[in-house]
Amino acid sequence: MKGIVFCLLNEMVEEQFGLEAWDDLLDAVGTDGVYVATETYDDAELLALVAAAEKATGIAAADLVRQFGAYMIPHFAKNYATFFENQTSLKAFLLSVDQVIHVEVRKLYPDAGLPTFDYEDEQDNELTMIYKSPRKLCALAEGLIAGSAAHFGEQYELRHDICMHKGDDHCALHMTLTS
Ligand code: HEM
Repeated sequence: MKGIVFCLLNEMVEEQFGLEAWDDLLDAVGTDGVYVATETYDDAELLALVAAAEKATGIAAADLVRQFGAYMIPHFAKNYATFFENQTSLKAFLLSVDQVIHVEVRKLYPDAGLPTFDYEDEQDNELTMIYKSPRKLCALAEGLIAGSAAHFGEQYELRHDICMHKGDDHCALHMTLTS
């Protein structure tokens, strides 16, 4: 994972749980917490921080990761504004993630660990994102979708029955747009 992800997690934990909470997580994981945005760090370190946060807060790891995904979007909207400005709707934005946004991210950070998304787009008010990644961060994808919906001021219902955490080889994130 890129350092930027760790920096944002640091920011969110400090904002929502306090400065001391972040120091406690670093102690629990045994890391110095010096993260440089463009450097790459072990995925396991991020998962260890989330596991420590689960223990400290009693909030399930998947819920924390979901919350983190939603937290990332306003940061992206500020720092990667063009990806948002070109889009008029949540659906158009989400359709651009695999072939536009993450392609550009890959150019910036050649060693980024990015997922792949295929799309099923059969109805105007529906969209399915087929998520595949060895990191199985579908909870992060759910949070990023929630944050994106808030950004575009849209409502949706999510079904996530097919899931890598249940043994499937992909996750199907099916959205019905309700606004
Ligand atoms: C402007 C918007 C976005 C930007 C700039 C962006 C950028 C990035 C970056 C920098 C990473 C981390 C790569 C690494 O640490 O090695 C990442 C990972 C990820 N992105 Fe995006 N992203 C955006 C939107 C989205 C959206 C809307 C979704 C989901 C619908 C999404 C799904 C993911 C997931 C699930 C990962 C975690 C890695 C994995 O699952 O393998 N991203 N993205």
